[in-house]
Amino acid sequence: MKILAIETSCDETSLAIFDDNKLICNLVLSQIKNHREYKGVIPELAARLHYENFHYLFDELTKYNVDIKTIDVISYTSEPGLPGALSVGKVLAETLGYLLDVKVYPVNHIHGHINSVNIDNEYLYPAIALVVSGGHTNLYLLKDQTNYEILGKSLDDAAGECLDKVGKVMGLEYPAGPEIDKLASLWHGPELPCPTLRNKHELNFSYSGIKSYFINYWNNKTLIKEQVAYTIQNFIICDLLTKAEKAIKKFHARSFSISGGVSNNNKLRMEVIKLGDKLNIKVLIPHKEFTTDNAAMIANAFRHINQ
Ligand code: KG4
Ligand code: ZN
Repeated sequence: MKILAIETSCDETSLAIFDDNKLICNLVLSQIKNHREYKGVIPELAARLHYENFHYLFDELTKYNVDIKTIDVISYTSEPGLPGALSVGKVLAETLGYLLDVKVYPVNHIHGHINSVNIDNEYLYPAIALVVSGGHTNLYLLKDQTNYEILGKSLDDAAGECLDKVGKVMGLEYPAGPEIDKLASLWHGPELPCPTLRNKHELNFSYSGIKSYFINYWNNKTLIKEQVAYTIQNFIICDLLTKAEKAIKKFHARSFSISGGVSNNNKLRMEVIKLGDKLNIKVLIPHKEFTTDNAAMIANAFRHINQ
């Protein structure tokens, strides 16, 4: 079965083709440079750029010898995301579906991230999946391939959002997550004093308090960027993995995954491997190209959930 997948939930325009069990291509055009001057994503601009970018992606597709008329099914990101941006993907999917006379399936974007780690790997069930992106910090119990239960979610700022907002005040480029990752790796001294986690016994996530703490701290003291990056990164990783560990133990999970843009973070990836070794559990970490938004994960979610 040949699947064409479309992703347009935020600021990456992406097309992917899966042929049976093989990923043929995962084409991504990032809009980050276009939004950078505004220091954040402008929803209207994102939607307009998706329209423009698909021309380039369909041109690129011809290099992979894919005859669009041989597609059997189309999947597209339906939610959550920016409404205008999502509607571009939906209209494209529905129009192509009509013209090619094939079925069109909506796919949840977060389910896409969960399925970004098993493109060439497999979950062992029950599994715990931690999705950490700019808009979401969600913890799931995967009972099997199709049965997901949400255990915890961000009550306010998501992990990536917190890093981006603190980084913005520090004068870092949007999105600040990758820069914080780099700066933190350059610091080999102690952490800055930090408040203790108030909700560490629950499985929900809350980072607006720590965000405000660091913004105030930065505005009132002369601080070293690398030390701030190191401290806030450690704080978030510790909180994420304390909760993941709790869930793994509670549900006797046999595998654990991280996904989403923040799973690009080098220290987080390292700590997840350590946690896997400590708990003797299989760990699934996405290839770097599948951490940020992409259509390959949308095709793969369709393969696992809808097929
Ligand atoms: O999944 P994603 O591409 O988009 C959303 O669905 O939100 O995630 C983007 C987020 C941004 O907040 C960005 O700062 C963060 O992922 N990010 C990182 C790193 N690379 C991207 N955060 C920490 N370290 C990184 N290396
Ligand atoms: Zn995402």
